[in-house]
Amino acid sequence: MSSFATLKSPPAPRSHWLWGNPEVLADPLAFMRKMASDYGGIVSLRLLTHTAWMVTDPAAIESVLIRQADKYRKHFAVRLLPIALGNGLLTSEGDFYSRQRRLAQPAFQRSQVSQYYSTFVSATQRMLDTWQVGESRDILQEMHTLTLGTASKTLFGVDAEFQSECVRAALRVGQAEFVRRLLTIFHFPIWVPTRSNRRLRRATRDLDDIIYGFIRQRRASGEQRGDLLSILLHARDGVDQTGMTDKQLRDECLTIFLAGQETTALAMSWCWWLLAEHPHVADRIYAEVDTVFNGQIPTMEGLTRLQETEHALLEAMRLYPPIHVIGREPLVDTEIAGFHCPRGTTLLMPAWAVHRNERYFKNPDAFLPERWRDGFEKQLPKCAYFPFSAGPRICLGTHFAMLQMKLVIAMIAQRFQFTLAPGQKVTPNVQITLQPSPGVPAIVRSRQSIHNSDFRGSLAHSSTE
Ligand code: HEM
Repeated sequence: MSSFATLKSPPAPRSHWLWGNPEVLADPLAFMRKMASDYGGIVSLRLLTHTAWMVTDPAAIESVLIRQADKYRKHFAVRLLPIALGNGLLTSEGDFYSRQRRLAQPAFQRSQVSQYYSTFVSATQRMLDTWQVGESRDILQEMHTLTLGTASKTLFGVDAEFQSECVRAALRVGQAEFVRRLLTIFHFPIWVPTRSNRRLRRATRDLDDIIYGFIRQRRASGEQRGDLLSILLHARDGVDQTGMTDKQLRDECLTIFLAGQETTALAMSWCWWLLAEHPHVADRIYAEVDTVFNGQIPTMEGLTRLQETEHALLEAMRLYPPIHVIGREPLVDTEIAGFHCPRGTTLLMPAWAVHRNERYFKNPDAFLPERWRDGFEKQLPKCAYFPFSAGPRICLGTHFAMLQMKLVIAMIAQRFQFTLAPGQKVTPNVQITLQPSPGVPAIVRSRQSIHNSDFRGSLAHSSTE
């Protein structure tokens, strides 16, 4: 303790003696950027009795997420999630977490993720076949339905249509309750039958019925279907050779489902909104996709050659990171960037503000996918760009998400383009994730690609599943 005595506390803006800095609630995104530009890489904020440090200095973030990761645990807000999620990868800690990550890791290796490719292709194809030129579609809604479908299929081997409305409704309740709990100082424990607790318990029960149903069926049939559920079910720990119990399987499946579905839908929706606003960038993607695939179904090998498409996605996640803030707290008193950080201090690392720091990104508010050319990412300081987080708890689905997103952007670009509904403003809405509000309403236009008729033909003859 004494070694910390000489260290200072970080700067703090003026605050109301009782409320602290309630301005953060009015416009959190603008507030975070203002704090970072006025006070630098670490600033201490207060809401009522709760103090949080906002950390935007990449070196300090690197120290928390990577170099000294073992000194931190997830932020208290994440610990609200187990009410519905149980003890899955997002929420668990310590030896239990390490074992679960070891067990789940093989399901996300490149070679395994490639097994899901045909599912991504056929689901995207089905979606595109329902689109009519000239009609209005909410791209956000479309991307949600798509990723719900691919997550159900790759995880459980079932089609999205099956019970998807039930899953979606349960997820909606879960998100709303999570945000409500986060913003409420006092709430009854989950066993007290308040209206909101009953809603949350009903939603959790609905999800449980579905997921335990899948697990029971699969255990009974003993089938090895190559989906995530099979892989997790047969996973054995290299250290003690034990597998997962049904409860662990349920928690991991639900966690992976939740962690992967919405984030991916959001990143693709933001990307398409930006492309619709910047048709000259979209044109580069159309040209690239036509050159690489020549109207044929995109192959995995071909996707690795899509530079413009990848840069557009990286740039969309820079401007609108689906997980806009990552939270941690130190398990012991520690030092961060020369400041004394007491045990349990809330640390908020807003990718939103870091990704828009002009020190690292010239013209930070502009959508400029070309900035990612010539190995730009490698020249950045570590943790100046971290949409998938970093360090030992980096997103398990990074490769899964990038593969699916590149494929979907490419397949849409082969056939369609979008114009935004006239007069429609889209703004970021801060929830657990960063959501485009009120969605991304757009009009579907034909690409009028010379390849279109060939492409439809080649798809009709494909047998992707
Ligand atoms: C664009 C899409 C995605 C983004 C931006 C994203 C972002 C993130 C971030 C920032 C974290 C770290 C959270 C923290 O440290 O508190 C995370 C963790 C995680 N993500 Fe993703 N994710 C995406 C897609 C996926 C997909 C597709 C899956 C699975 C199919 C997935 C599964 C997970 C899991 C299991 C964790 C917890 C990892 C751990 O703690 O060991 N994510 N994700």
